[in-house]
Amino acid sequence: MHFELPPGVADGTVYLNGEFLPLSQARVPVLDRGFIFGDGVYEVIPVYARRPFRLGEHLRRLQRSLDGIRLANPYPEDEWRRLIDELVARCPHRDQSVYLQVTRGVAKRDHAFPKDTPATVFMMANVLSTPSPEAVEKGVAAVTAEDNRWLRCDIKSIALLGNVLLRQQAVDAGAVEVILFRDGALTEGAASNIFIVRGGAILAPPKSHLMLPGTTSDVILELAREAGMLCEVRAVAREEVLSADELWLTSATREVLAVTTLDGQPVGTGSPGPVFRRMYRLFADLKAQIARGPEVAPGHR
Ligand SMILES: Cc1ncc(COP(=O)(O)O)c(C=O)c1O
Repeated sequence: MHFELPPGVADGTVYLNGEFLPLSQARVPVLDRGFIFGDGVYEVIPVYARRPFRLGEHLRRLQRSLDGIRLANPYPEDEWRRLIDELVARCPHRDQSVYLQVTRGVAKRDHAFPKDTPATVFMMANVLSTPSPEAVEKGVAAVTAEDNRWLRCDIKSIALLGNVLLRQQAVDAGAVEVILFRDGALTEGAASNIFIVRGGAILAPPKSHLMLPGTTSDVILELAREAGMLCEVRAVAREEVLSADELWLTSATREVLAVTTLDGQPVGTGSPGPVFRRMYRLFADLKAQIARGPEVAPGHR
């Protein structure tokens, strides 16, 4: 049986519980705890020239998230790698984003964990849609808000209602992201990590339970250190963000992007700054290196 797909969604091959099948045929029972409770975790993995980028890091973060919700990993790492390779091979696009989610499976509705219930595993690959050249050239708008999410933002939970409501505040204000503060300190964006530049130094808040440990932010910090750029990981106060010379957001699909207006005010000069431009180039070079082939330094694969 086929389901009508929402507008703009192509009928690609997806993976569901041991099977590759068309998206229009994939179905999950309504008693799945992902549907009923948002009881599951996920990952989004960028794929450059059919090579998953930082797959080891994504699978390690998946394990951390699964440990965080006390759900056994349904597959060993080599099985994940094999399944992701197969999904990527079945997707027609060269650059892709692989979405995967694991939920606590299908059970009678009860908050407590069910016993002996197999996890539900779903994966799909889509064309990787990165920011437009115009967004990279001009930067994007963001707004600020209080971070009112739960206190385990380090778990990549599929229960994203807090993030959804906050992101919509940004969209309603004509912006692309919301930058969040808790007790006067920067945490992250609704679906990104945030960096600022002040006096030539790149600053980012330290990892904690208040933010997702971003795979892209790790890449940015590594590139900065390798290039000898000044960077410091420490608590960043709201005032420092509001008066930053540069503001960036990072994520697996948005890569690194300059925020050039915040709450309607220009950030720095109102254009992507020199430190951003240098970092953007380093990131683009790394992607090109990945796309060329296996001579990439192991840490960057
Ligand atoms: C809340 C949140 N923080 C940070 C990130 C960035 O993480 P990554 O760079 O691994 O995509 C994301 C990604 O979607 C996110 O949802």
